[in-house]
Amino acid sequence: MWTLPTTVHSLLAAALLLGSCLQSLMATEDDVTPRISFPYNAKERSAKRFSVDGVFNYTSLLLSQEDDMLYVGAREALFALSLSDISKTKLQKNLTWGTPAGKREECSFKGKNLETDCFNYIKILLRLNSTHLYVCGTYAFSPICAYINTSTFTLERDEVGEVVMEDGRSRCPFNPEYKSTAIIVDGELYTGTVSNFQGNEPVIYKSLGQGTALKTENSLKWLQDPVFVGSAYIEESQPIGNPVGDDDKIYFFFSEAGKEFDFFDNTIVSRIARVCKGDKGW
Ligand SMILES: *[C@@H]1O[C@H](CO)[C@@H](O)[C@H](O)[C@H]1NC(C)=O
Ligand SMILES: *[C@@H]1O[C@H](CO)[C@@H](O)[C@H](O)[C@H]1NC(C)=O
Ligand SMILES: *[C@@H]1O[C@H](CO)[C@@H](O)[C@H](O)[C@H]1NC(C)=O
Ligand SMILES: *[C@@H]1O[C@H](CO)[C@@H](O)[C@H](O)[C@H]1NC(C)=O
Repeated sequence: MWTLPTTVHSLLAAALLLGSCLQSLMATEDDVTPRISFPYNAKERSAKRFSVDGVFNYTSLLLSQEDDMLYVGAREALFALSLSDISKTKLQKNLTWGTPAGKREECSFKGKNLETDCFNYIKILLRLNSTHLYVCGTYAFSPICAYINTSTFTLERDEVGEVVMEDGRSRCPFNPEYKSTAIIVDGELYTGTVSNFQGNEPVIYKSLGQGTALKTENSLKWLQDPVFVGSAYIEESQPIGNPVGDDDKIYFFFSEAGKEFDFFDNTIVSRIARVCKGDKGW
């Protein structure tokens, strides 16, 4: 069913409450002073470093308390690092998830840059359950998702040895530069991203596997060029214990063009949107 989670709308309205922060946000747009800083002095503090020659864009990190690992998603590669020492090569596992030459050519043919755009950038790296991670990559502007068996740190394959892949549209952006967000709550994936190649159809989407998907309706223009920052799950039913948990909420944090401001230039505003976990879109 492709209908709307009704609660996104009311929340966008609620997000306008953030308007009072707007003044300071605009004033400090070029000021990149961090709110919390962490002085690093190699002599006083020993920090462990991880990087691999020839591997770029370490953009997805997953700290996994289940197995004391740090999972890292980079361009065409993933790593499993032991938290006891992320720099110890002996304790690392890696897997390569490259893009077939045909896909890269297709990407280049569509006008994208072969040396920057047409690779598989890992954008989503989440724990699915105790044995598997869920991973999505841009796959040369043709996003796909797959499963990683954490015991072997390999992509899940079917009986004939093919990697089990799912369409990544509405989950993972096409463009590696695009800022998206994703979270898994009770086995269901929620994403804030763009759903098309051109990158002009922003979407908040809920799905996993072959199940029903719900998404924001593009024609309503609820989202205006959003840049997603993150997402979070906040349980509201506890400790009262609503048996269906239908007031549990998923929050999306982003900035976007504030169309309610009648200025010459687009004004970028911070927003929070939320969807109810129990919302079936009816
Ligand atoms: C991946 O792991 C293998 C085996 O440990 C190692 O030989 C190889 O250099 C690693 N590759 C990367 C990119 O880290
Ligand atoms: C975790 O999910 C994978 C992929 O759907 C599935 O094959 C596996 O059996 C699940 N593991 C558990 C413990 O539920
Ligand atoms: C993960 O891979 C190992 C080795 O191939 C296999 O024994 C195990 O059953 C797999 N786990 C799951 C949950 O598929
Ligand atoms: C990937 O890394 C390169 C080199 O650091 C950088 O120039 C480029 O902007 C990065 N691309 C993405 C999509 O993060």
